[in-house]
Amino acid sequence: MGKYIIAGNWKMNKLPSETCAFVKEVAEATRGAQCEVVCCTPYVCLSEAVKGAEGTHVAIGAENLHFEDKGAFTGEVSADMLLDLGVKYVIIGHSERRQYFAETDETVNLKIKKALEKGLIPIVCVGESLEQREAGITTDLIAIQIKKAFAGINAADAKNVVIAYEPIWAIGTGKTATAEQAEEVCAAIRSMLASLYGGETAEAVTVQYGGSMNASNAAELLAKPNIDGGLIGGASLKSADFAKIVEAAK
Ligand code: PGA
Repeated sequence: MGKYIIAGNWKMNKLPSETCAFVKEVAEATRGAQCEVVCCTPYVCLSEAVKGAEGTHVAIGAENLHFEDKGAFTGEVSADMLLDLGVKYVIIGHSERRQYFAETDETVNLKIKKALEKGLIPIVCVGESLEQREAGITTDLIAIQIKKAFAGINAADAKNVVIAYEPIWAIGTGKTATAEQAEEVCAAIRSMLASLYGGETAEAVTVQYGGSMNASNAAELLAKPNIDGGLIGGASLKSADFAKIVEAAK
C-alpha cells in the first residue's frame, strides 16, 4: 500500500507569529516518526512553517492553490509561489472549499494537474455528506469525484497523488467514521484507482482517512489495510495529540 502520511490541516487557525515555534514543537514531538509528517498551514504562515521545519523531518503543505501559472487573479496563489517558499504538499478540494468557496470537481482536476506539473504533491479530498450516505450513494458519489479528479492524468502522475477520504459528516464534528466504514470506502477508492490505472498504481497511492481522527481512535483506523494515513484538522493544533496519531502510523 502507499506510503504512510500523517498531515495536519490547520485550516484558518494559528497566527504567522506562532507558526515557526509550533512547527518546531511538532518536529520535536514526532521525532523518529515512521511515516511522513506534514503540516498544512494558511498561506500567510507558510514561510514561517518552512523556517520551523528546516533541518527536521517535517514537510510543509498549503491548503489550496490556483490552477493558473500567473496573472490577473487577485487574491490567488500559484504553484510557483508555493514552491518558491519550500512548500512540498498542497490540499486540493477540501469539502470546506467545495462548500463555501465554489470549488468544483472541474477546478479540483485543474489544480491537481497544475500541482503535478510543478512537482507539488496534491492531497485530494473526497467524501460524502450525511444525506448522501443515508441515501446509499456514497460509493457512486466518490467514484464520480475520483474519476473527475483524475481526468487526463496518466498512471505515472497518478502515483504521486494522495487521496484523503473525508466523510463531511465526520469533519470537525467529533463523529468519526468507524474503522469499518472508513476502510470500506478507502478500499473502494483503491479499486476505482485499479480500474483506472491498474493494480500497481492503485497500490502505490496513499489513501488517507480524515474526519475527527484523534489520539484515541487513530490506531484502529490506521490498522486497516487500505488506510495509509490521516488528514487531521482539530487534533493537529495540539502537538501532543498530533504526535500520538503519528506514533500510531507505523
Ligand atoms: P477534523 O478535520 O480532524 O477537525 O475533523 C479534518 C479535515 O477537515 O481535514
